[in-house]
Amino acid sequence: MSSSPANERILIVDDSGTTLEVLQRNLSAAGYRVFTAPGVAEAVEILEGAALDLVITDLKMPKVSGLDLVRHVRENFKDTEVMMITGYPSIEGAVNAIKSGAEEFLAKPFTDEELLSAVQRALDKLKLRRSGHATPGHVVPTHKGFIGDSEAMRDVFVAINKAASTSATVLITGESGTGKELVSRATHYGGPRSSAPFVPVNCGGIPEALLESELFGHVKGAFTGADESRAGFFHAADGGTIFLDEVSDMSLAMQVKLLRVLQDKEVCMVGSNRSRKVDVRILAATNRDLQGLVRKGLFREDLFYRLNVITVFIPPLRERGDDILLLAHHFVTKFSAESGRSPLCFSDKALQSLMSYNWPGNVRELENVIQRLVVMTDGDVIEVPDLPTLMRFSALRERGLTRTLAHVEAEYISNVLSSVEGNKTLAAQSLGINRKTLREKLRKMEKPSS
Ligand SMILES: Nc1ncnc2c1ncn2[C@@H]1O[C@H](COP(=O)(O)OP(=O)(O)OP(=O)(O)O)[C@@H](O)[C@H]1O
Ligand SMILES: [Mg+2]
Repeated sequence: MSSSPANERILIVDDSGTTLEVLQRNLSAAGYRVFTAPGVAEAVEILEGAALDLVITDLKMPKVSGLDLVRHVRENFKDTEVMMITGYPSIEGAVNAIKSGAEEFLAKPFTDEELLSAVQRALDKLKLRRSGHATPGHVVPTHKGFIGDSEAMRDVFVAINKAASTSATVLITGESGTGKELVSRATHYGGPRSSAPFVPVNCGGIPEALLESELFGHVKGAFTGADESRAGFFHAADGGTIFLDEVSDMSLAMQVKLLRVLQDKEVCMVGSNRSRKVDVRILAATNRDLQGLVRKGLFREDLFYRLNVITVFIPPLRERGDDILLLAHHFVTKFSAESGRSPLCFSDKALQSLMSYNWPGNVRELENVIQRLVVMTDGDVIEVPDLPTLMRFSALRERGLTRTLAHVEAEYISNVLSSVEGNKTLAAQSLGINRKTLREKLRKMEKPSS
């Protein structure tokens, strides 16, 4: 199997000619082989003959609904992924899409970037299903979709394996862009619930007033505008996993409600006084110090302990050593292939700059930097001047700091010592310190790590 998008075949189904045209243009430009159908009947015909990798379908279409198409594909084409497009704010549509087997859903309006990354995710899942793992070039991901071979990341892979085999609640922590969502997906898809839904919810992105009804659903008449009953994300995830991203952004009032669901394993729709049992595994993520928030009274301690049954901490990129190079190579290969050019490479100095940069935005920042470099660099080699300004300066500053703190003093002491032919008493006098301090400094200089 090749990783080149040119071999990946996507069918778009939508009754709006304009939408078909826009999606077809975007996906073809990204290198995919694209088919289109104005309705479910035409889609079914194309499915028979085209050996598709992915079907992207609208939910609301005049004759047959997109949901029926999702079911048809799930039942008859096990080797094809499905993605549903729903109009905002039809959360119910999303819920139903997931229940009937769509791997991804995308709420309108969406940006080109969101479309492409949802398509990529759906296709990555397909690859994972087909072969365990598949990668471009010669970089081998060491764990389901992850690139990384550092000690720090191996600990993460071990933790994912352990977490995947249980149904315990997992708290995933790490700075922004370290891969928390990737870890949550690997935990779900690596475990016994992998064929049931995985439902990600960005708790920070949903307005406070809506969060409760989106999570737990609501009954008709529960509030102004609730014209009909709607299921929530917890219902959609029944039998599978819900991923509560940015869980620290929940208000204290919502935290109480979530705690109740965790304790009772029941959800109560807004406006109803009856609860319903749900079997949902919970994964939560945060890039904040939850324990610190507990101390400040901003996060409930009882909820913290409920969520924190297993913790997976993802280390920042700057602590992953050579993984930076593996990831850089992986992204260069990927983005070069996507833009149809032969893979770029880095000069040694540019690689050094990548290694000594602090990467506050972690893997996401590295991915973005490299995507830009592939677009902006004319030649075949990425040199230091091609790198973002901040990165070049930071590399210089960091090298300067290391010298000031450790090397300069050590170098000076060595010079003084050799000028007095190793006589420590004379050297101490010349340095203006006593012999004991000099001895301590020399001992430290002999230990490479200090
Ligand atoms: N080890 C890895 N190997 C390959 N790709 C990775 C790795 N870690 C992260 N990524 C990629 O980096 C991007 C950011 O990852 P992800 O969204 O999981 O991070 P996050 O911790 O959830 O970020 P945020 O805190 O901003 O929500 C994604 O495109 C993801 O696929
Ligand atoms: Mg995230």
